[in-house]
Amino acid sequence: MNILLTGGAGYIGSHTAVTLTEAGHQIVIFDNFCNSDKSVLDRLERILKKRLPLIDGDVRNTALIAQTLEKFQIDTVIHFAGLKAVGESVDRPIEYYANNVQGTISLLEAMSLVNVKSLVFSSSATVYGDPQYLPIDEEHPTSATNAYGRSKLHIEEMLKDVANSDREWKIICLRYFNPVGAHESGLIGEDPNGIPNNLVPYIAQVAIGNLEKLSVYGGDYPTLDGTGVRDYIHVMDLAEGHLAALNYLSTNPGWIAVNLGAGKGISVLEVLNEYEKASAKSIRYSIEKRRAGDIASCFAKVDKAKKILGWQTKRNVHDMCASGWLWQQYRKNLP
Ligand code: NAD
Ligand code: WQD
Repeated sequence: MNILLTGGAGYIGSHTAVTLTEAGHQIVIFDNFCNSDKSVLDRLERILKKRLPLIDGDVRNTALIAQTLEKFQIDTVIHFAGLKAVGESVDRPIEYYANNVQGTISLLEAMSLVNVKSLVFSSSATVYGDPQYLPIDEEHPTSATNAYGRSKLHIEEMLKDVANSDREWKIICLRYFNPVGAHESGLIGEDPNGIPNNLVPYIAQVAIGNLEKLSVYGGDYPTLDGTGVRDYIHVMDLAEGHLAALNYLSTNPGWIAVNLGAGKGISVLEVLNEYEKASAKSIRYSIEKRRAGDIASCFAKVDKAKKILGWQTKRNVHDMCASGWLWQQYRKNLP
């Protein structure tokens, strides 16, 4: 199949590009590099021994998207492009709605113009808001606690309307839990700008010596060791989830949402411990007060992915930390 990856130069998109290419699909990357670097194309070439075609553009450029869909005879789009920092979305909501919601509208306009009606959307566990029960299944009520989450919810709802309006549309919303880790080569990985907000990129910076210590946000949660619990998923497992989603979509019209997680909660201290083992570094930390807006625990029920997509995770938290550490060491020498 010919597949367009919007935001394909980013963290999850680049790993998915590897998995899909290795499975025999023809990939085209569409990215405006607002949150990634063009050098990822060179590194993908090293992994794949093949140069992936790139369109440098913004998804809000409807004409350029339509032109790209036609030129490469695209069958399916995977829509990763978007802004994703929760705190930033609270400060700059207009930017988030413009990029995420308007960007998706533009993409849908282009797709319907040229009659490409198959779409995988990068959604998030954030659409469940504060969990009312665990593990979280796809029937859990949705809500949003910030502009980023609300942009994802708006998009999901919009996509539902589109699928209801025309039976030719095939749309799957993949609700990712906490993606971490890197490709086993260590040549691509997560590359956040500035001081990381997320746990594993922050730990990596402490391990490599760029940051002094990790602040563990809260030691008094009602969890096994008092620290926050999340469902961390290896980014290569996540990439394989997209491959499974494409297979599902090929025969299933309509709209569906599916959780992609490991289905298991891991605490902050457990992650820290695994990262210490993987990197053979001692990682300084202190227990601080809870971060505003955080919840104690969040993990997925993954039965639907198993049943409908025939997919489940294969890698464990050690694999996540070991691959992440490999990437971290490679990244420090990048210009
Ligand atoms: P990322 O920032 O690494 O990748 C996003 C890519 O999209 C970047 O390369 C960026 O340059 C590009 N982009 C952004 N706006 C664009 C636009 N208007 N036009 C063209 N390109 C644009 O993020 P990621 O972690 O790879 O996330 C991919 C998707 O998955 C996002 O939609 C994100 O919301 C979603 N998601 C991520 C996580 C996570 O923790 N990483 C969790 C759940 C959902
Ligand atoms: C994980 C755990 C923190 C940093 C966020 C978004 C979510 C999704 C993924 C896109 C928590 C603790 C963290 C640190 C810490 N993104 N922590 N010290 O908050 O589960 O999810 O990213 O859709 O929308 O909200 O991930 O990695 O920030 O935090 O103790 O310096 O690590 O309190 O328990 P989170 P995270």
